[in-house]
Amino acid sequence: MSARQILVTSALPYANGAIHLGHLVEYIQTDIWVRFQKMRGHECWYVCADDTHGTPIMLRAEKEGIAPEQLIARVHGEHLRDFTGFHIAFDNYYSTHSDETRSYSEDIYRKLKAAGLIEVRAIEQYYDPVKQMFLPDRFIKGECPKCGAKDQYGDSCEACGAAYAPTELKNPYSAVSGAKPELKSSDHYFFKLSDPRCQVFLRDWTRRGRLQAEAANKLHEWLGNAGENKLTDWDISRDAPYFGFEIPDAPGKYFYVWLDAPIGYMGSFKNLCTQRGLDFDAWWKPDSKAELYHFIGKDILYFHALFWPAELQHAGYRTPTNVFAHGFLTVDGAKMSKSRGTFITAESYLQQGLNPEWLRYYFAAKLNGTMEDIDLNLDDFVSRVNSDLVGKFINIASRAAGFIAKQFDGKLLDEAFHDRFMGSLPELLLSSEEIAGCYEQRDFGRAIRRIMALADQVNQYVDQHQPWKLAKQGGQERELHVVCTMLINAFRLLALYLKPVLPKLVQRAEEFLNVAPLHWRDAAFVLPPAHTIDPYEHLMARIEPKQIEALLAVNRESLAAVPPAPTSDPQSPQRHAQHQQQTEDKMQQPAYISIDDFMKADLRIARIASASHVEGADKLLKLSLDLGPLGMRQVFAGIKAAYDPATLVGRLTVMVANLAPRKMKFGTSSGMVLAASDPEGKTAGLYLLAPDSGATPGMKVK
Ligand code: 2FM
Ligand code: ZN
Repeated sequence: MSARQILVTSALPYANGAIHLGHLVEYIQTDIWVRFQKMRGHECWYVCADDTHGTPIMLRAEKEGIAPEQLIARVHGEHLRDFTGFHIAFDNYYSTHSDETRSYSEDIYRKLKAAGLIEVRAIEQYYDPVKQMFLPDRFIKGECPKCGAKDQYGDSCEACGAAYAPTELKNPYSAVSGAKPELKSSDHYFFKLSDPRCQVFLRDWTRRGRLQAEAANKLHEWLGNAGENKLTDWDISRDAPYFGFEIPDAPGKYFYVWLDAPIGYMGSFKNLCTQRGLDFDAWWKPDSKAELYHFIGKDILYFHALFWPAELQHAGYRTPTNVFAHGFLTVDGAKMSKSRGTFITAESYLQQGLNPEWLRYYFAAKLNGTMEDIDLNLDDFVSRVNSDLVGKFINIASRAAGFIAKQFDGKLLDEAFHDRFMGSLPELLLSSEEIAGCYEQRDFGRAIRRIMALADQVNQYVDQHQPWKLAKQGGQERELHVVCTMLINAFRLLALYLKPVLPKLVQRAEEFLNVAPLHWRDAAFVLPPAHTIDPYEHLMARIEPKQIEALLAVNRESLAAVPPAPTSDPQSPQRHAQHQQQTEDKMQQPAYISIDDFMKADLRIARIASASHVEGADKLLKLSLDLGPLGMRQVFAGIKAAYDPATLVGRLTVMVANLAPRKMKFGTSSGMVLAASDPEGKTAGLYLLAPDSGATPGMKVK
């Protein structure tokens, strides 16, 4: 097998937010793949950088009273600390605010312009007359045009989920200064993705059969059929004031994110080339033999699989070999949430003393190379790590090592062991290419299942041969020596297979085994006769459930202790997919209410005195509610799908008693009963609230 040349990237994180477990899915996934390629003997480079430009970074620096350069330098240190803590081994972790990225941005821009693919067009946008700047959508707030909810962002409503243009907001105001924004026209620079050359190229590029099936489907949907022109041009500029690179020959205009962030991949690699004496052009020329892979979240597929290849192609560079998109992280089946403490930062995980390799292992076990979301189920996390890693894997070494040290002076059996090993545990040697195939395909979950099935075979061998009994019986030394040599060899092979996932643990295992760093090719051999191993030191502790509780607690506490994080990336109206980063940023800015706000709602216990269907209403039931001393109320409740009226009569529930009466087609509704439901509609159920026994009609709920 000849060595491949492989350049790998992960998406560049914004330089104004902390790394959290959602980010880590991607970096861990990429790092495992890169480590695997390196173990296979390929020339593989892994580069990344902070994405440092944009209005949010500029405003945050301003708020902190520092220069943007100071802010991005600090965040760079924090990000690198967190990544290093999780053993993410970048060959270069750079910054988009670099000479290299600037030079490639300008170069690509000039070439696209020369090719006639840049166009200038005036567009109208909201402008903050006080701050004297154009406002990104996320810095404009107002009332939702659909449901009227107050203080909603300029792109979508968190109350009803509607998406809209900022100009549709009612009573808009600038989130920067509070001023009423004005519509103002300005020249913007566009990359002409709608140009027939881009369409023709992308139609071919996306059909070369290497993209993930779901990604290919999505791209075909975006591209439409031949003859259709569904792609729109891309706004690549922002007006001053802006923190970024000024567009050549366009004073006051700056490159917007997609004309410098992915180019940061090139900038970072160029910087690595300078450090290591590599030939940048050999990797980036159109006919390069090297492979180029981008690991990304599914939310930025559009940019990486349409915009970016079109940009590279028409600027005379090679295009990506493939783009590997992954899904989002949920925790216990739900979006990460600050109030539940499941918005877990990388820093807090490490500071709480949790082992980063637990998480690497768990993510690996869940990843399968598709765009499906992955769930960190915290109970499953504890039990899987404890039972697989500690119970099945580590124990093999700890069970054998004591005997080898005490009874055999640290030496394995003095005989060629390959045939004997093949006789007892053949699959451990024979599975190496199958496991390699799983890693190559990024189906790490399958690799882990296979490795753990092998560990099961080894543990069965232990149970059959019972070394602890052999040790007690006289005259069984040789048999004990055989069994322990078998186990140490099995442990070495399992460690080798797990090494991309558990690099630090396996490094310590290599020290214990007294072997050179393991490569994939070493899976063809067993240890030599009379090989000496070092004394065993415990390799990994079990997770205690209380450690998870503490982790959630600190992440919950930080909600109260830390003011809402400054906003991150503005959501451009161009963004086709919901951007996870932004969702997360919004989640970092919970809309707090004061206790006084809460107390405005007059919540009361009500007894359902009668309940009936409403003629002509699909969803409503008519309820008469008894509020004890407060009298009776008529309420129309949208609970028909979930409740038979007859079963409701006599039940106690909770109602909002001071809701303004609402005239409906069927009569007036004077209040609202409270019911639980899943806002995402994953389960259709509605669950009426009920108080504990003892509550009586009219009682106040607070
Ligand atoms: O979406 C994001 O998180 C941006 N910081 C861009 C990352 S990908 C790349 F192209 F830089
Ligand atoms: Zn709304």
